[in-house]
Amino acid sequence: MLVHAIPSNVGYEFAAEVRAGLAREGQKELPSKYLYDDVGSALFEVISHLPEYGLTRADERLLRRHADEIVDRVPGPVAVAELGSGSGRKTRWLLEAFCRRQRTSYYPVEISHSALVMCERELSDIDAISIVGFEREYLEGLLEVAAYRKPGQHLCVLFLGSTIGNFDRPAGVNFLAEVRCILQPGDSLLLGTDLEKSSSQLLRAYDDELGVTAAFNLNLLARVNRELDADFELSEFEHQARINPDARSVEMHLRSKRRQIVTIPSAEVVVEFQEGETIWTESSHKYSSEEIFETARQAGFRCEVQWIDEEWTFAENLLVGA
Ligand SMILES: C[S@@+](CC[C@H](N)C(=O)[O-])C[C@H]1O[C@@H](n2cnc3c(N)ncnc32)[C@H](O)[C@@H]1O
Repeated sequence: MLVHAIPSNVGYEFAAEVRAGLAREGQKELPSKYLYDDVGSALFEVISHLPEYGLTRADERLLRRHADEIVDRVPGPVAVAELGSGSGRKTRWLLEAFCRRQRTSYYPVEISHSALVMCERELSDIDAISIVGFEREYLEGLLEVAAYRKPGQHLCVLFLGSTIGNFDRPAGVNFLAEVRCILQPGDSLLLGTDLEKSSSQLLRAYDDELGVTAAFNLNLLARVNRELDADFELSEFEHQARINPDARSVEMHLRSKRRQIVTIPSAEVVVEFQEGETIWTESSHKYSSEEIFETARQAGFRCEVQWIDEEWTFAENLLVGA
């Protein structure tokens, strides 16, 4: 697979965002995209197999059951771009269906180099596929993919796994609107959204018994140690999953077990933590099936079809330009 690699200023951005997120007044915060280095991407792959985390299996059941119907609704010839592909394991069902129809280009857009490598290993055996990976942020990568399109070729963008839930609701609408601006008539967006469920089911999913999600979250501090020479003592922080009923989301936090001071030389910052103080690292917003139609409309799309998995309430939504 050809991989368009990430520009070299990423280390500076990481340092700047760590400084901004940890030195601020009030709730400390780190952007969730930094959870996905090599270790984080490998741990996320394990999370997707955990019995408590039914989300990936629900997404995969819908893609497997409806792949031919989805492909029939997307006019060819088509290039498929996937935002935040991860390992691409469940995308296989769709790509096989596209490639049965005609030769298909697949462009995974990923911030994580190791996820792109996993993705190629997972999917390159599909007949009639060509894969070009973009080690980029979502929109930057999608703009490059769009510039690659051949005359008459439609773009089908995949945003699966309910990664849209990592944005708060207004930011989610803005993000979808930006995707919409890059698309042309005949293009489409397949959007996976996790639906609301009981607090106990959500807390189990984001705080599993084996502690894999805890390791995934704590790895962010280990990454700051590795890449920015910080001295976080991992055993002095603990993973916390919290329901935010107003935002209708599950939040992941890292809670300081005691008062402590952490030095992060490459971010030029010294951070003081009080006992019980947390760093907010990720939110996963949950949707109602009806609100997705309105969210799509606000972003300039029309939700043409919605498929719902009832075993683990999850919706796959096919959006087209309004
Ligand atoms: C929640 S995981 C979902 C992976 C996969 N789509 C799935 O459904 O299992 C989010 C993926 O998006 C990638 N990612 C996160 N933030 C990103 C960004 N700003 N730009 C590009 N990729 C990003 C991560 O590396 C990760 O692989």
